[in-house]
Amino acid sequence: MMECTDRHFRYLVRLISRRILLYTEMITTGALVHGDRDRFLQYHPLEQPIAIQLGGSDPAELAESAKIAADYGYSEINLNVGCPSGRVQKGRIGACLMADPDTVAAGVAAMRLNGSVPVSVKTRIGIDSQDSYEFLANFVEKVRDAGCRKFVIHARKAILTGLSPKDNRKVPPLRYNRVFRLKQDYPELEIVINGGICSLDQAEEHLSRVDGVMIGREGYKNPYLFSELDRRIYGDDREVRSRAEVLSEYLPYVQQQLDQGLLLSGITRHMLGLFHARPRAREWRRTLCELGRARHVDAGVIMRALTVIE
Ligand SMILES: Cc1cc2nc3c(=O)[nH]c(=O)nc-3n(C[C@H](O)[C@H](O)[C@H](O)COP(=O)(O)O)c2cc1C
Repeated sequence: MMECTDRHFRYLVRLISRRILLYTEMITTGALVHGDRDRFLQYHPLEQPIAIQLGGSDPAELAESAKIAADYGYSEINLNVGCPSGRVQKGRIGACLMADPDTVAAGVAAMRLNGSVPVSVKTRIGIDSQDSYEFLANFVEKVRDAGCRKFVIHARKAILTGLSPKDNRKVPPLRYNRVFRLKQDYPELEIVINGGICSLDQAEEHLSRVDGVMIGREGYKNPYLFSELDRRIYGDDREVRSRAEVLSEYLPYVQQQLDQGLLLSGITRHMLGLFHARPRAREWRRTLCELGRARHVDAGVIMRALTVIE
């Protein structure tokens, strides 16, 4: 998620769940091929398993980007065919590509040519008036035939003109049945459902119909939601870390980042939701915002914010 799932947020979530698959923000192929690669691609090894999401449609650029991402050690390379923003449409990126499955298939084939890292596609159930199940199934078949075995489906269509990206995440109705049907019709594919899933209870229900669940907004707003995930979904019997334990493990990482010249606010902004819906959560957020504005602080100040809660 753009502006959300950067490496600092991902590291925090990794301390909450050892098993969850993390995704980067969308990175355009142009940025990777022509830009500062380390800036976009560097991550802490502890974040693994981590999937990179690419935005692009030119097969040559996708192939080169996939190769670069593989060299950085990403576990999965995901192509964004779901973003409805007008800006990305101009660059032939995102949901508009659903109308052109041959281009997506060519991109996937090119991405696979260069390496052994699995390629997945994140998409919607349709776009504009092209919103039948057959349209979705035809898209999936063409992309499958190019070698994609995993699809993440945001279970609402995208409306490409006249609706903001934000409204495109809530106005078109969720149609989970479309995704369930896709899994029934293509049992050999790995189908991951996305959209409006807010709890592990809901995730578990979905997992009886599909192979995976992607949680976006709720996970950012309330990352501690994932604390029971390893135990409930993966049967992992290791101790669940308390929020305080997560924080004390996060501190050395934060200090390392500060030592490299990063501003504390770039990290604290991702911690605001850690005490979501807990008593004094507002004081936690306010204290973090104040700390984030301070200059020349060390990571220990975060523990001071914790005393506000306790
Ligand atoms: C701030 C924000 C940024 C997002 N950025 C991306 C992105 O970079 N790539 C992507 O595939 N989806 C992106 N999304 C969409 C989410 O991944 C997800 O598909 C959508 O929010 C629906 O799932 P949810 O109800 O679990 O949030 C973004 C959503 C938000 C709110």
